[in-house]
Amino acid sequence: MGWNDWAHYQCNFTAQTILDNARALVRTGLAARGYRTVTIDDCWMLKSRDSHGNLQPDPQRFPHGMKAVAKAVHALGLKFGIYEDAGSQTCGGFAGSGVPQGGGQDHFLQDAKLFASWGVDYLKLDGCNVYAAPGDSQNTAYRAAYRAESAALFEVGRHVIFSESAPAYFQGTPDWYDVLSWVRFYGHLWREGSDIATFDAKAPNAPRFHSVLWNYAYNLPLGRFQSPGNWNDADFIIGGDGGMTPAETRSQLALWSMMSAPLILSSDLGALSPAAISVLGNRAVLSVDQDPLGRMATLLRRTPSSDLLFKKLAGGSYAVAVLNRGEQPLHVELHAVDLGFAQTGCQFSSVDLWSGAREPSALTLQAAIAAHDTAIWRIRPAPACGAPARMGVVTRLASGRHRDPESYVLCMASTGKVEACSDSPAQRWTVTPAGSLESSGRCLAAANGMVLMQRCVSSDAQRWKYTLAGNLINRGDRLCLTGRSAQGLTLEICGHHLLDSQIWSLPNDPATR
Ligand code: GAL
Repeated sequence: MGWNDWAHYQCNFTAQTILDNARALVRTGLAARGYRTVTIDDCWMLKSRDSHGNLQPDPQRFPHGMKAVAKAVHALGLKFGIYEDAGSQTCGGFAGSGVPQGGGQDHFLQDAKLFASWGVDYLKLDGCNVYAAPGDSQNTAYRAAYRAESAALFEVGRHVIFSESAPAYFQGTPDWYDVLSWVRFYGHLWREGSDIATFDAKAPNAPRFHSVLWNYAYNLPLGRFQSPGNWNDADFIIGGDGGMTPAETRSQLALWSMMSAPLILSSDLGALSPAAISVLGNRAVLSVDQDPLGRMATLLRRTPSSDLLFKKLAGGSYAVAVLNRGEQPLHVELHAVDLGFAQTGCQFSSVDLWSGAREPSALTLQAAIAAHDTAIWRIRPAPACGAPARMGVVTRLASGRHRDPESYVLCMASTGKVEACSDSPAQRWTVTPAGSLESSGRCLAAANGMVLMQRCVSSDAQRWKYTLAGNLINRGDRLCLTGRSAQGLTLEICGHHLLDSQIWSLPNDPATR
């Protein structure tokens, strides 16, 4: 949790901007709520190194150098973060730590030493301009660069939180899932996809919620890559800044918290309204984000205008959220069975995390949710409720990947179709402890090379192995469940070329690693 200048200021900042925002973190009380790391993004340096090969902070922006800024940030009780790049140049064209174009000596260790001497606690390593030597794939080149940074930080011996941007450079390519499975060996968090919309001083109120929904859409299916200490990063919190309404600000914080995502504010903190500060500093919602289990929410249901999310928390509680991405108010009434509890009489205590309203013993959750708003509760089921089933939608990415949050994924249906998510009963699945996929009391099976729904029995043909890459491999015939929108479900050899159609997101993705 912290603050970064990029989404609001881009390159328009000086040391003063950074320190003003650091002080605002403390003054608003947001630092006390956990937002403690202040990171300077791109454009802080000169384009060239000095005669010793060291990076040079831009003297116009940082007249007293970088160590002085780090010291001032530390004096406020905050941590200090900085930006660099794994390639020859940063995205803004400044000196990168990586191998020069055409080959040569990198600067990972030299720069890591410099950062440590300044007192850097957090490093965001972007991935523009990474040089791949002839014969090396992009994936190999990125992996070598991020491994080198990780080794350099280790050698320097300072504890630095390492944020990797590598996966974002592979979004939409067959290597995306491979990169997502190696980043955890080197760093603590990683950006997987495109940037959240930045603030434009010339159009300060240009709507930005669509970008929030897009980042949420691409982050949500990636729960299996995340575990405590290794986080998917859905990018900055722009809630409270220009172009975001109060409802949209609540939604971003609730959705990011349901995903256990890093909360890195990127607005002009001095200009936040008291209402925005109270949303961004809502202790009850922040504790959902910071829950020690670190789970990604499960998508229980998706309708054209709403998502129902469910997240297991430590200590026997659960968080429930409903996003209304539609333009009309939405009334919801949820029963325990809607959340996966088998007992119809299951009672639970609940707290509405926005209003604070408590129900010591309820049978339903009810809310009227305004357009673009998100309701969020913490519930604690009575012991008699038992554990909830692993229930929800089974999705794959739609081909084409137009940046449209609503059509980013398709839902698997027990009719054998792979179709737009509509919350039809055929799109509701339960993953059983034995690894079967059950819908309306029948189980998905591989029989004679075909995919069918059968009466559930204990057989390998009805068991599916779920891999970190996202394949569902039938335990009987070892083939991959493949779902093309035209042909529906088939069984085929697992392979990269079938990427979209063979990569699935399951309810409550387990820690498969
Ligand atoms: C992008 C990155 C942004 C910001 C920018 C700086 O690649 O996603 O968050 O760091 O570079 O140039």
